[in-house]
Amino acid sequence: MTREEAIKKIIFAMDVKGFDEIEMWAERLSGHVGMFKVGKQLFTSCGPEAVRTVQKAGGEVFLDLKYHDIPNTVAMATLEAAHLGVKLSNLHALGGYEMMTTTMETLDKKFSSSERPKVLAVTILTSSNEETLRGVGIDIPVKEMVVKLAKLAKSAGIDGVVASPQEIGLIREACGDDFLIVTPGIRPAFAATDDQKRIMTPAEAVKSGCDYMVIGRPIAAHPDPVAAAKLIVDEIVAG
Ligand code: C5P
Repeated sequence: MTREEAIKKIIFAMDVKGFDEIEMWAERLSGHVGMFKVGKQLFTSCGPEAVRTVQKAGGEVFLDLKYHDIPNTVAMATLEAAHLGVKLSNLHALGGYEMMTTTMETLDKKFSSSERPKVLAVTILTSSNEETLRGVGIDIPVKEMVVKLAKLAKSAGIDGVVASPQEIGLIREACGDDFLIVTPGIRPAFAATDDQKRIMTPAEAVKSGCDYMVIGRPIAAHPDPVAAAKLIVDEIVAG
């Protein structure tokens, strides 16, 4: 794999609060990572301007708002994400088949497939375990549920899923090669594990078949973040 291909796989988790920080990270890391993830906290504090600020600095955006609502509302919210020009957007597969097909049909009516964002489904959050699922009336093992939801998402026309590193193989097997897998929980050989428990190195994750990796603190908390991003690229290329 070339360095350019490896860079494209890295999504920097922009877990920050204000515009100054967004600008600083986007300017610093543009060209060293492939995309910037704007999540609920940043979007709630700074709004769509957070996305535009990244874009003005030359960065592409993964809008991680994990929509889960009635079909029309999720479709319209995803359409707004597309109008913002984000490259990746997401929703909860637990919202169901109709919510997902309505969203994809709505997008496809307004955008060509190369112009619209890729839409990812979140299956079961990695913070949930068997007990969490039982508590909401789901009585099947987490891994089974993850695969079931990934297949449902694929059948509804969704482009891929967000998954833990441990789920990459299972999902690849169940959904085939033409399905994006984006994974957080990545820790390069040089970095601390922080609060992440089930981790993989970037090279292992790529070998397991992931398309993109969401990486935050290993880059943000490093004394030289650009050097950290380059080290991650080195690890992917060497792996
Ligand atoms: O700093 P770190 O690399 O752990 O950041 C990972 C990012 O991915 C964070 O924004 C975190 O919220 C997100 N994430 C995660 N695990 C999940 C889903 C999302 O770490 N299961």
